[in-house]
Amino acid sequence: MQRIPDTPFPTFLVETQESANALLADEITALLKERSGRLVLGLATGSSPIGLYAELVRRFEEDRVDLSLVQTFNLDEYRSLPAGHPASYRTFMMEHLFSKTTVGPRHIHLPPTEAEDLDAACAAWEETIRAAGGIDWQLLGVGRNGHIGFNEPGSPFDSRTRRVELAESTRAANARFFDSQDEVPMEAVTMGIGTILDARRLRVLAFGETKAEVLATVLRGEDDSSIPLNALRGHPDAALYIDAAAAARLG
Ligand code: GLP
Repeated sequence: MQRIPDTPFPTFLVETQESANALLADEITALLKERSGRLVLGLATGSSPIGLYAELVRRFEEDRVDLSLVQTFNLDEYRSLPAGHPASYRTFMMEHLFSKTTVGPRHIHLPPTEAEDLDAACAAWEETIRAAGGIDWQLLGVGRNGHIGFNEPGSPFDSRTRRVELAESTRAANARFFDSQDEVPMEAVTMGIGTILDARRLRVLAFGETKAEVLATVLRGEDDSSIPLNALRGHPDAALYIDAAAAARLG
């Protein structure tokens, strides 16, 4: 792994996705030891975290990590998908991590999407994060347009958990998880950028050529506050891990 010079926040080029996953799994393993298992994790969905979750499951099966006291908060969730829809983030988390480990069901927190008073439910959810002591370690992916969670370009850096409309480019990018783009919901609930920045550590994974353009814009361009990934510039402990394909346009 090599640190890329002159980036606005620590950015590392990894030789393989597996090496980034092992490194992040090591961090989580060390924090679990340090906190006697009482860790608050912020979790992400999408293709980027799949390998890390597989690595955590492997360590769980080998008795190297105990997740029974961990509290988890997911970044985002679509609105208006029927319960158990294969593309919902709840289904994703069950499939890749929760059903394969012993994260207690009462310790799993997914953003509220169907409450009658959604604003109140989002505020209550934020309160649950605070009551848990705040997020110790937050995982993030990056959208092709630089979104984090479902905070699309133009989202204020002090935004909190709320209902958002998805950009058409995001609906197109995520259509691969649905039968067609028409089926991708128009709305989601996401942690705000301010909520994300409150986490003590931020760890971002960006792999593959579809991320190359936005990474070149953020890592080599001006500080443009309309691109959510640029919010990491203001965080004391953020790190981005990218592979060669994602780094291809950094020059
Ligand atoms: C979705 C999620 C984001 C995720 C992004 C990137 O839009 N809401 O939280 O970071 O996709 O996904 P992938 O890792 O599949 O590239």
